[in-house]
Amino acid sequence: MPNFSRQALNLPPETHPDVETVLFPSRIIAQRVASLGGIITNDYTALGAHELTLVGIANGAVVFMADLLRQIRIHTRIDTVRVSSYQDADSPVTHPQMHATNRLALSRRHILLVDDILDTGNTLAFLKAELQKQAPASLRTCVLLDKKGRRQAAFDAEYTGFVIPDVFVVGYGLDFAERYRNLPFVGVLKRECQNAAAFAS
Ligand code: XMP
Repeated sequence: MPNFSRQALNLPPETHPDVETVLFPSRIIAQRVASLGGIITNDYTALGAHELTLVGIANGAVVFMADLLRQIRIHTRIDTVRVSSYQDADSPVTHPQMHATNRLALSRRHILLVDDILDTGNTLAFLKAELQKQAPASLRTCVLLDKKGRRQAAFDAEYTGFVIPDVFVVGYGLDFAERYRNLPFVGVLKRECQNAAAFAS
């Protein structure tokens, strides 16, 4: 019998010294993503859509989008957008700003906006309003994680992987100071590791 252990297959470990708790191991994420892909395929088929365009918010959504894409059974195009925040000169309020890196035409297309995590809702509420200006046939949102308790903007995603409490999570595309995106699982980052200055090279 061949040895299919994680070690023998040289797979990354499902733990990390900076992670306090693993919330979703890679196997559970894969199951949920497959299930989301099935639901999305059925919903868009019922809508009469022959093609779907996933628009991922870079960089956080790229891992999730790459896996979700392969679980959708209708023609699927992909694109990305970037969002940054800027602060008013005379107030502490921050505003999201879209960098239109998306190259595909969205007009009269079925668009599914994909993000790693829905937190205050400000980013997705803003982006949805921006993309709506391009007159898509439909515009829905899919997030892997939802911190429901932290919402500021009235926003809900049509498709959600997991609802989580108010903890800072990393892995599966989610980062802290650009680290941990490559972890195959989603876990809670230890408080003592939430110090970006310590990562400055
Ligand atoms: P809002 O608050 O606009 O922002 O919904 C969503 C963006 O905030 C980031 N975010 C996190 N990133 N772990 C992360 O790595 C977290 O726990 C977390 N909570 C929010 C993320 O960039 C997301 O797109």
